[in-house]
Amino acid sequence: MAMRNLLNHAAFLFLSLSLVSQIAAKEWPVGGSTRFYDFKVQTTKVTKLCKTTNIITINGMYPGPVVYAQEDDRVIVKVTNLTPHNATIHWHGVRQKLSCWFDGPSYLTQCPIQAGQSFTYEFTLVGQKGTLFWHAHFSWLRATVYGALVIYPKNDVPYPFPSPYEEHILIIGEWWNKDVLQIERDVLASGGNPPVADAYVINGQPGPLYNCSKNDIYILEVVPKETYLLRIINAALNTGHFFAIADHKLTVAELDGEYTKSYTVDHIMLGPGQSANVLVTTDQPVAKYAMAASPYISAQNVSFQNISAIAHFHYRNANPNGVALPAQVPNFNENSAANNFVTGLRSLNAVRVPLEIDTNLFFTVGLNVDECHSSTPNKSCQGINGGVNKASMNNISFVRPSVSLLEAYYKHINGYYTDDFPGVPLKNYDFVNGAPNNIPNDTQALNGTRVYVLEYGTRVQLILQDTVIVGVENHPIHLHGYSFYVVGSGSGNYNPQSANFNLVDPPYRNTVGVPVGGWAAIRFVADNPGVWFMHCHFEIHLSWGLSMAFIVKNGDGPLESLPHPPADLPKC
Ligand code: C2O
Repeated sequence: MAMRNLLNHAAFLFLSLSLVSQIAAKEWPVGGSTRFYDFKVQTTKVTKLCKTTNIITINGMYPGPVVYAQEDDRVIVKVTNLTPHNATIHWHGVRQKLSCWFDGPSYLTQCPIQAGQSFTYEFTLVGQKGTLFWHAHFSWLRATVYGALVIYPKNDVPYPFPSPYEEHILIIGEWWNKDVLQIERDVLASGGNPPVADAYVINGQPGPLYNCSKNDIYILEVVPKETYLLRIINAALNTGHFFAIADHKLTVAELDGEYTKSYTVDHIMLGPGQSANVLVTTDQPVAKYAMAASPYISAQNVSFQNISAIAHFHYRNANPNGVALPAQVPNFNENSAANNFVTGLRSLNAVRVPLEIDTNLFFTVGLNVDECHSSTPNKSCQGINGGVNKASMNNISFVRPSVSLLEAYYKHINGYYTDDFPGVPLKNYDFVNGAPNNIPNDTQALNGTRVYVLEYGTRVQLILQDTVIVGVENHPIHLHGYSFYVVGSGSGNYNPQSANFNLVDPPYRNTVGVPVGGWAAIRFVADNPGVWFMHCHFEIHLSWGLSMAFIVKNGDGPLESLPHPPADLPKC
């Protein structure tokens, strides 16, 4: 069935080249097939909320084109930059086994693709299936440059749940009327907070609740008594989202591209960077039902867009003019709703979580404030108490290098990074109750481009601990190049004596929400050489430095070593 859907979508979305490869694939005895895509980064005029703006898109589409593939396929995407801005594409959740060069974060694994240049990404979806996404990884470009990545199981491998009647993608985004690259420049120059988004969107449509958006509604037409698979992705920049459909239960079957035990809920919560496959049965009276993406804001005293994006779950023959029944979503600050959702998640099958650990790491994550050193403080120190807003891990605010770290590492170019990222915080304090928060003086982080080096094959446990320095908040922490087992989480300071771990069937994710004023424990085996970015997937926190990178060294022989860089790797 999956294959049939794939071909249906293919009819209008695929390049003819990849159609050819699909047909050819049937004759190949082993291995995946190859999917070719052609991405043109371009400037596109779009009208939303009654304002016409120029946004950056791929092939003029917003959201961008869906990349379809099957497990173990090779994906080749030629990206040509027709805009005057820098761009890269990151394949979020793709584990990039031995293909770190194609991961995409700018200044981490590659220099940006400059105006007029192109770069061809090539990677294999080794052992991966499910819903992931791709997005730009330069400045705030991913606000408009994103799209779904749908990976079907291999031929004749069924889903581990009844085959759905239809499949649909719902990708949640965040919309600004202003140029997002300019927003990042302005916010960093001001030292203060970013402006709130003008709207949230589902498949590019805000729904009827905003000013001047009455008819901009994504409509999903359904028929009664069937089960639908919804591939839901949170591609928003700075906002976690609750998602619910009026009067319908959601059964989670997969998260971040990995199957879960079937888990039925009224609403889900996805942080930016997270995705879920959800089954919904049309067992309600014929009517129009609202699908809501509503903000989950765990930080205190921040302004945010408090209007939900609404799409319609529209039973065929429902009165098109009738009102859509409202969806029930938690309040924006309902931490318990977010926490309860994630603590119920389990991997479908028994997992290969490392039971013995070689390297124990403990990283704090949070915001901080730098002292003002500007001669024009009114202009450039609009942060908390006249300081400059920053963010850090283990109190180190990441400074983006001016070259690609992977290139610097691979070619032994000195001077762009240091390998002394601390494995534990340099200062110990009560992270969630008594942080040194007499702003701005005591909360400064050190600045630096520091990496943590792991030997090939290291079994890592990493505790991510939220801090209260500026205020506690749920941070969606994303690791490139790996999925990891979320073996535990809890509130307060992590305490190894009382922490409860699930080593049997923990979820396997690429982005973990560190609970508000709490901690999350993840485990992974560092068996993929390269430079791997880890960061908060709130774009503003990334801009403020909430990131670090791991260098994973080569192991033995070609199957454990990073190959040479591709010839067309962009230059800085
Ligand atoms: Cu989806 Cu480094 O990000």
